[in-house]
Amino acid sequence: MHKLIGILSLTVDHLFEFIRFVQFSNGFSLNSSDKLRGKIVFRYHSIEKGLINDPIRYRFGKIKIQKLLRYLSLWVERKYSTSDSQFLTACSVVKSYMDLHIINNIDISDIINEKENCLIDSFSGKQKGGTIQIQAKNYFNLALASFDQFSSSRRSVRHFNGQMVDVETIGKVIQLAGNAPSVCNRQGYKVKLINNPILAGEILKIQGGLNSTANTVRQLIIVSVDRSVFVSSAEWYEVFIDGGIYLQNLLYSLHFYRIAAVALNWTKHFFLDKKIEKLIGFPKQEKIIAIVAIGYPVDSFKIPFSQRKKVNETLDIIN
Ligand SMILES: Cc1cc2nc3c(=O)[nH]c(=O)nc-3n(C[C@H](O)[C@H](O)[C@H](O)COP(=O)(O)O)c2cc1C
Repeated sequence: MHKLIGILSLTVDHLFEFIRFVQFSNGFSLNSSDKLRGKIVFRYHSIEKGLINDPIRYRFGKIKIQKLLRYLSLWVERKYSTSDSQFLTACSVVKSYMDLHIINNIDISDIINEKENCLIDSFSGKQKGGTIQIQAKNYFNLALASFDQFSSSRRSVRHFNGQMVDVETIGKVIQLAGNAPSVCNRQGYKVKLINNPILAGEILKIQGGLNSTANTVRQLIIVSVDRSVFVSSAEWYEVFIDGGIYLQNLLYSLHFYRIAAVALNWTKHFFLDKKIEKLIGFPKQEKIIAIVAIGYPVDSFKIPFSQRKKVNETLDIIN
């Protein structure tokens, strides 16, 4: 009997989450500032990523820029706060895109019109947004510093120099990452090191989130969580919580051992899970949380450089 109740509650809980997701994610409507901000961040981040490409592809992302500009105009039209950190950051990112083309004498008047130009000029420069150049020799300088400095110094690196990380060092990383807390210490997290550059390339093609620099990646880590450690139907999403906590600790552990990394999303439809199962015999009992590209950085590389949300945009105090 209690198995039947478990299956019923699993179904209802999924349905509840399904309804909340349709109501409140920004994929189905844009009827609030929170949803519009979500779209704006999504769009400006893809422009930032285009700006770090080396060599740069001029006039990239025409449609993405135009969508972003539509959202920014809508933000102003609806009189949402123009001191919002993410609205201002988006304007600065577009300004970096415009400056790149002005400096190189490339016409983008078909991408950004006069009115949008004025909007960007009014609100850009009030928050950071764009890219910064990093020298590999300095990148890990704070790897042994106090936590506040260490944490601020970790960034996603997407340009690798081709040198492989040895398996012994990966072992040390995994040892350290295992300090991650997990529900009742269940430790459901699992790691697969893809140590074959050709296979890594095939997996990256399926993942699809690292187009321009994917060819510099030679090793991947697949982070997953084994569903077999969970006892009750209410725990179905603990998979993602424990997996997310482990992923963050893994990223820090890689940074500590001076290995560059970028997490790559695995919010994919089921048929891509099936592709990975077929390609590498990935166990069906495990849920992939993310894929992490790892390696050593090229001598000089760019990273996106945008303003994070302010404390008062994150923290609500409830007395
Ligand atoms: C779960 C997860 C999935 C991500 N997926 C991608 C991805 O598919 N492609 C990519 O270039 N970056 C990806 N990133 C990296 C984020 O873009 C990056 O963490 C974010 O912009 C913050 O930058 P930072 O890591 O340098 O602090 C992902 C990060 C996380 C945590």
